[in-house]
Amino acid sequence: MTLSMKAIQIKSTGGVEVLEYITIERPKITEPMDVLVKNNFIGVNFIDTYHRSGVYNLSLPAVLGREGAGIVESVGDGVKDIKPGDCVAYLGASSYAEYTKAPSSYVTKVPNGIDSRLAAASLLQGLTSWTLVTQSYEVKKDDWVLIHAAAGGTGLLLVQLVKNLGAHAIGTVSNDEKAKLAIAAGVKHVINYTTQNVVEEVMRITDNQGVHAVFDGVGKDTFEISLACARRLGSFISFGNASGIIPPFDILKLSAKNLKLMRPTLFKYIETEEEFKKYTAELFTIIKEGKLDIKIWKTYKLSDVKQAHQDLEGRKSTGKLILQP
Ligand SMILES: NC(=O)c1ccc[n+]([C@@H]2O[C@H](COP(=O)([O-])OP(=O)(O)OC[C@H]3O[C@@H](n4cnc5c(N)ncnc54)[C@H](OP(=O)(O)O)[C@@H]3O)[C@@H](O)[C@H]2O)c1
Repeated sequence: MTLSMKAIQIKSTGGVEVLEYITIERPKITEPMDVLVKNNFIGVNFIDTYHRSGVYNLSLPAVLGREGAGIVESVGDGVKDIKPGDCVAYLGASSYAEYTKAPSSYVTKVPNGIDSRLAAASLLQGLTSWTLVTQSYEVKKDDWVLIHAAAGGTGLLLVQLVKNLGAHAIGTVSNDEKAKLAIAAGVKHVINYTTQNVVEEVMRITDNQGVHAVFDGVGKDTFEISLACARRLGSFISFGNASGIIPPFDILKLSAKNLKLMRPTLFKYIETEEEFKKYTAELFTIIKEGKLDIKIWKTYKLSDVKQAHQDLEGRKSTGKLILQP
């Protein structure tokens, strides 16, 4: 018997109008290491908007989404440590749906004390921020660190982690409400990059030295600002393109201060099952210890996905957006 489900599919790339709420066939276990999850909650990420708009390629038609949490429906023959009925969170394609099939290497049991909605909100942005501050640039006590879009989903996590590591976070935001949130999360200084000169402010705050590291998920609009704010021997970690892709640039710009420039993606830090397990265990520990507060901005019905994408791309959201099938 063929079972069906509701899902959000795109047949072509474009604006939110290409997001279709449709009925399709429910995925089936086909490989020994597959896990089929009935989604309780689905995390929305900026990467979903890149897939929808065509900034990043997907083969079409495609069900969008990269993470979710729910109850295991069934597992392949080779899966030993996860069983039907387990509460899990996962990273995997096609999560904007009632059911998702994910490889067991990217599925984790949700520990007691973390509910399903929080689990769906935690993995992608949590693992990204954790690997950024430990692997891309190892944040050290008393460092000055500039974080763009500090009141965004990833930004609010970066601010808390940088503060926990004993460093001083400077956050940029686009309005006063976001400034309050960034301060509550732990930034030492907040700069409104729509009304203030970020480079002048950063130089004033750091005694004209600049910052040890910049975490920049905004991309095109902040590229030159980030270069200018990094100190001599500093690190510029460019991890996203919310404002657009950074155009080709002259690499000699880096030699003016011997800067290190890196463009990391989470999936290259968790390519092996061991890496995924290690960073996920570390992340859940920090959350359970109360050292990382994951703020859920809003939960939308799966069928309201267009509004969720509009809010994220329209800079309305602060924190995590969640879909509920
Ligand atoms: N490399 C990786 O593996 C990885 C993983 C996760 C996320 N990311 C990247 O991290 C960044 C943040 O992702 P997120 O999901 O946490 O989103 P988010 O920060 O919650 O939302 C994006 C924020 O970027 C700021 N922004 C500045 N210019 C913008 C523009 N022209 N259009 C839209 N937003 C703009 C806005 O904050 P203000 O209004 O305060 O400016 C907006 O709220 C994205 O670039 C994403 O691709 C990368």
